[in-house]
Amino acid sequence: MPELKYYEGTVWYARRFDVAKVPGERLFLYFGAVSYRCRIYLNGQEIGRHEGGFTPFQVEVTNAVKASGNFLAVEANNTRTTDAMPAMAFDWWNYGGITRDVFLVKTPALFIEDYFIQLNKYKNDQVDARILLSEKSANKNIELSIPELNVKQGLTTDENGVAQVSLKVKKLERWSPHSPKLYKVIISSKTDKVEEQIGFRNLYVKDEDIYLNDQPIFLKATSFHEEIPQRQGRAFSEADAMMLLSEAKALGCNMIRLAHYPQNEHTVRLAEKMGFLLWEEIPVWQGIDFENNNTRLKAGNMIKEMVMRDKNRCALAFWGVANETQPSPARNEFLKYLIRNCKSIDTTRLITAACDLVRFDKTKQQFVMDDPFIKELDVVAVNKYMGWYHQWPVSPDKAIWNVAKGQPLIISEFGGEALLGQTGNADIVSSWSEDYQAALYRNNLAMFKNIPNLRGTAPWILFDFRSPFRFHPTNQDGWNRKGLVSDQGLRKKPGT
Ligand code: GCU
Repeated sequence: MPELKYYEGTVWYARRFDVAKVPGERLFLYFGAVSYRCRIYLNGQEIGRHEGGFTPFQVEVTNAVKASGNFLAVEANNTRTTDAMPAMAFDWWNYGGITRDVFLVKTPALFIEDYFIQLNKYKNDQVDARILLSEKSANKNIELSIPELNVKQGLTTDENGVAQVSLKVKKLERWSPHSPKLYKVIISSKTDKVEEQIGFRNLYVKDEDIYLNDQPIFLKATSFHEEIPQRQGRAFSEADAMMLLSEAKALGCNMIRLAHYPQNEHTVRLAEKMGFLLWEEIPVWQGIDFENNNTRLKAGNMIKEMVMRDKNRCALAFWGVANETQPSPARNEFLKYLIRNCKSIDTTRLITAACDLVRFDKTKQQFVMDDPFIKELDVVAVNKYMGWYHQWPVSPDKAIWNVAKGQPLIISEFGGEALLGQTGNADIVSSWSEDYQAALYRNNLAMFKNIPNLRGTAPWILFDFRSPFRFHPTNQDGWNRKGLVSDQGLRKKPGT
């Protein structure tokens, strides 16, 4: 709706529905995402609210629904505020509203509420499983089966309704970008059954290397926003995911950074099937109010919602806790708090954050970075726009880096803008030309050879994307043009 292009505020959604109520059954409304904050009303009663535009939430409606003529209303508001994430200024379009699927979920009275099943971080023949029933009661029987691995394991819950097991498996084919093997996993209890597709892989860091299945890996990544540029709208379907991921596949990527927020499950699950490792983050993007305790608690909740949703996805390799935040005691404490929240659910994945503090030290004639916080990270990531926001202090092939020694380093963003079809002087940044963009890539790749602990690169960005920041009248017109592919889906020189 063109009239809502720049609108920020409240939009109401409403619909009626009937539901066959079965005694003993429970009913939940599940929202994939509503941006940015919302209140949910059923039959005139407020039944729930949520803040955060990119993570799922659910509301139980068992006792609130009628058999017919239910009236559901959703009040969605995307007004930017200083205590939010992201906060007042961010370089992507502030799409508001219900942006993902909404489900009415039926469960038995006692159901399988949660499960976390994955290969042990280091052992290649041990599957660790934790299953939670919806009732805190002991001695309930659960069965975990993985037919292809001849696993049929009985478990019993403890007084918290939790059943845990570490079981040995034979002839397991580990998931990897080359062979994204998934296994059917069935969890069943007396009254409930869940079928899942789960992959098993080992992932860890040793010194400056990242190991996948005991082999050092180099991450050939790219990023994309959850947007279909041709439609100037949020990506939300499997077809949308296929469009985005096929372009990344064509580029030869083995990893995607889902920038700068958790994206929909279609994208995450299809990426796993297609063999992409994933980096997922919450939008702790630049100017966040780190001093604000309320913001900290919201961020803690947001990161837990992200981890809870995707913890069974073996493709998920990185939890990102921040992008381009300035060091301060409040910031460091805030991010450490996020890491603790992440690890309260999942201790197995790699923690990272994208830093933009690399600078050229004239005395040492080297690129260096002073951010003590990076010691909290498993993998250090750096956004650096040489040839775009920064001029070359030395020729690219002579650019030496001494950053995050002893830790693996990823260049999580680099690149420059070009308007598709614009040709021009490859040496002039203001040409906004594909030639300049291609030259910029060649120069950065030459520099990357001088980064001893480099273990991955992610060009910013796969597609041109909409941004309220970008208003060069001819070259941008509301688009960030750093895409390797244009807003019409056409590849620019560096991407060909
Ligand atoms: C930043 C930021 C991105 C932004 C990019 C750019 O590094 O992380 O969100 O889009 O720079 O300026 O294009």
